[in-house]
Amino acid sequence: MTSRRVHLTVNYNPGLGAHPARWRVVDDPRQFWDINTYIKIAQVAERGTFDAVFLSDTPSLRETVPTHPWHTLDPIDALTAIAVSTDRIGLIATVSTTYNEPYNLARRFSTLDHISHGRAGWNIVTTWNQNAASNFGVDAPDHDTRYGRADEFVDLVTKLWDSWEDDAFVGDQSGGVFIDPAKVHAVEHIGTYFKSRGPLQLPPSPQRHPVLIQAGASELGRTFASKHADIVYTIRHTVGDGQDFYADIKSRVATQGRDPEKVFVLSGVYPVVGSTEQEAREHLAQLDQYIDLDASLAQLSERIQLPLSRADLDKRPPARPSGWDQANISHGLTDAAWQALEKNKDLTLREILLGHRTSIRHLVGTPEQIADDLELWFRSGASDGFNVSATHFPEGIERFVDHVVPELRKRGLLRDEYEGSTFRDHLGLAVPESQYTSAHV
Ligand SMILES: Cc1cc2nc3c(=O)[nH]c(=O)nc-3n(C[C@H](O)[C@H](O)[C@H](O)COP(=O)(O)O)c2cc1C
Repeated sequence: MTSRRVHLTVNYNPGLGAHPARWRVVDDPRQFWDINTYIKIAQVAERGTFDAVFLSDTPSLRETVPTHPWHTLDPIDALTAIAVSTDRIGLIATVSTTYNEPYNLARRFSTLDHISHGRAGWNIVTTWNQNAASNFGVDAPDHDTRYGRADEFVDLVTKLWDSWEDDAFVGDQSGGVFIDPAKVHAVEHIGTYFKSRGPLQLPPSPQRHPVLIQAGASELGRTFASKHADIVYTIRHTVGDGQDFYADIKSRVATQGRDPEKVFVLSGVYPVVGSTEQEAREHLAQLDQYIDLDASLAQLSERIQLPLSRADLDKRPPARPSGWDQANISHGLTDAAWQALEKNKDLTLREILLGHRTSIRHLVGTPEQIADDLELWFRSGASDGFNVSATHFPEGIERFVDHVVPELRKRGLLRDEYEGSTFRDHLGLAVPESQYTSAHV
């Protein structure tokens, strides 16, 4: 039996990377809508035997005119292009349940899974910001409504993916039998938010259900994740906090009657790799000189929902107000920002922002130091793997794959080669049977 291995996904925020000044140092700042860059990143991660490439998304521009790159290409379309230029790596598209319809999305993910021969994954988000809502001419629904809709959305999409039994397509050319109609089921869904007759117009894809990913951290978000997700993304800043979150998710998964070992908690990291620690620090310092403090301050203000001004820069960070989680926000991302401020409460806001300490947990050092940190989190029950970002792409992920991946392999923590061909194979997950299979109904 293979021992437990670290699961890696590459978090390509198409805004070019995790560093706030990333676009100033890449070869061409137009690369954030250039598909060749996306393909290159996926190919590098595939060389590093990552489970998947993950594209985040929000269907809007930033609140104000952006000071740095934001989400551009539609993730499913970009991943379709990546699919035909890679062989094994999983393909995770972020798509909102608030601004889509289940039938279309079930079909689009099934299509991606067919085209990629079983490598599709869906990062299910509910999209909190009014900015996106305004693009659809509505007010952002409140947190409970968003999750209520998301829950029904996923149930309906799953029914549509299940609407064809495995052997419904016969294709018997000599006997003249194309399909077995008894094995193609209307779903006849009538719920609170949606109605759909079904069935889907596509036979089941290789994974039947693409891998489902969720990153909500509120009470409702965690329950939703424990019910539906195969992978749960999180941003945690200390091992202790990572362990608490991990234990909470695993116990909720068990309460749902699911196997906690089949649901993977991946924590966000942003490694800066050097041949010495000094070199890694210098590499980061080169980028830090371009940080736009006003823009960083505005982003933090928006994230924690508190007005901050230049006058606050030389003060200690504000304390988390009670009721911070009552606003219509992403609890997960807002909580991560508060955690980062709390961890750095002895620094000034200027030091925090210049050290970009409010983003994903960053690790600066040699491949061995970075592998030590990842191993500690993995072995101490704080995560099953990592969602890896980089200062800027593709360079940052190339450094990780060339230097940290061999170290992880040397320690027996990461596979040397892919053992299977689908995203589910990489996670050791079976293909689910249709809920309409005769034995089930
Ligand atoms: C690593 C990570 C990545 C995320 N990526 C996205 C994203 O691409 N788009 C998005 O709308 N929300 C994204 N989110 C936000 C969560 O999905 C968000 O927390 C959720 O929509 C609101 O749930 P909550 O209030 O339960 O946290 C991400 C969160 C984390 C931790």
